[in-house]
Amino acid sequence: MSFFWGSWITVLSLGCWLFIFGVLVWTLKSKPVLEEDETTGHSYDGIREYDKPLPKWWLVIFFGTLIWGLGYFILFPSIQPNVWKGITTVEVDGQQVPWTSKNELNSQLQANNKVFTENFEQGILTNAGATEAIGILAKLNDLQSQKRSQAEVAPELQEQIDEQVKLLAPYVDKLSTDPEALKVGNRLFLQNCALCHGSNAKGGLGYPNLTDNDWLHGGQAENILLTIHNGRVGAMAAWQKQLGESGVRAAAEYVLSISGNQNGYDLDQAKVQQGKAIFEQNCVLCHGPDAKGQIAMGAPNLTDDIWLFGGDRESIRTTIRHGRSGVMPEWQTKLGNERIMLLAAYVRSLSQNPVE
Ligand code: HEC
Ligand code: HEC
Repeated sequence: MSFFWGSWITVLSLGCWLFIFGVLVWTLKSKPVLEEDETTGHSYDGIREYDKPLPKWWLVIFFGTLIWGLGYFILFPSIQPNVWKGITTVEVDGQQVPWTSKNELNSQLQANNKVFTENFEQGILTNAGATEAIGILAKLNDLQSQKRSQAEVAPELQEQIDEQVKLLAPYVDKLSTDPEALKVGNRLFLQNCALCHGSNAKGGLGYPNLTDNDWLHGGQAENILLTIHNGRVGAMAAWQKQLGESGVRAAAEYVLSISGNQNGYDLDQAKVQQGKAIFEQNCVLCHGPDAKGQIAMGAPNLTDDIWLFGGDRESIRTTIRHGRSGVMPEWQTKLGNERIMLLAAYVRSLSQNPVE
């Protein structure tokens, strides 16, 4: 909490309490001088005022609430949290820490995660005969907590982590035929991934279809695991400056020609030839000499009729002119290794047994 909001809460809570306490004490102390007939001597339109003390039961309740309030002051960080943290604690990362709403949330999340992990290890992994994965996951967790403690992550550590992630691949393959794992994987997919990839995982413009056998970053379990763990960023440069508009159009014409020209365009053969030369010079580095793509670069196959950004002439020109950069977020921090295994198994199952 910032200093300002901490002070704000202190003023509101402590100020209110002191004010009410003060008013109460003051009214109890101030005894008006009474007339002989026990009235205060005030008279409004002929109505005279008695001095009636506050009833006992009312006072008791009032003091009770003030004491109750004090209890809260003691239990929770009620006064500038840096001054008084309260005596209530919650367990985070195996340690008792002072209560804050954030710590309480984390504590509950961790408790849920623990249950999830137990169910995962003792239920799903055990049933699928993949308990060896538990040791790998433990090592992976170790490496990741090292990573979290480093301000700047050493590349060797990231490499070690990726190697460890890849070791999970055979177990993901096992899970990808396990109905229970797929059920949980499907739920996780709907919650986290459907927004971009669609609830049927068939993707859309800019979001790849995960149910076919066309992969930007590879469709083996280890590729899928790494994609979900670390995220991916597509890097297709913009070519307009370098090639000029006529170069862009020629390259697009060539791409159309190698993709089978499914739209049945009347292709300009001179441009196709010109485009071929441009392609060989500029594009094979990523898309490969046969233009079938390379997963190391995340570069798609251009010889099929599967398009991430549209396969009509204008879309292809736009892709080449301005470049493209699809972003797949990383999920390790948010979902953790166990859920990622289930997701990878689910995604893996989609392309193996396509569902309509
Ligand atoms: C914010 C949108 C977004 C969300 C949410 C998202 N993805 Fe992606 N995903 C993408 C994009 C964009 C790409 C393509 C990246 C590229 O162009 O290289 C991608 C690529 C992938 C790939 C690689 C496909 C290939 O052809 O190699 C997989 C696998 C994948 N996502 C799985 C998932 C899973 C599982 C989740 C849920 C945990 C998820 N994605 C959530 C946007 C998203
Ligand atoms: C630095 C590597 C790289 C180079 C060089 C490169 N591309 Fe790409 N290209 C990619 C990547 C990566 C993608 C996918 C982008 C994404 O997923 O966001 C892509 C996507 C495309 C697409 C879209 C495919 C689809 O399915 O919609 C076309 C078309 C394309 N490139 C054509 C070309 C042409 C033509 C050239 C040469 C002028 C070229 N690329 C050079 C990496 C490259």
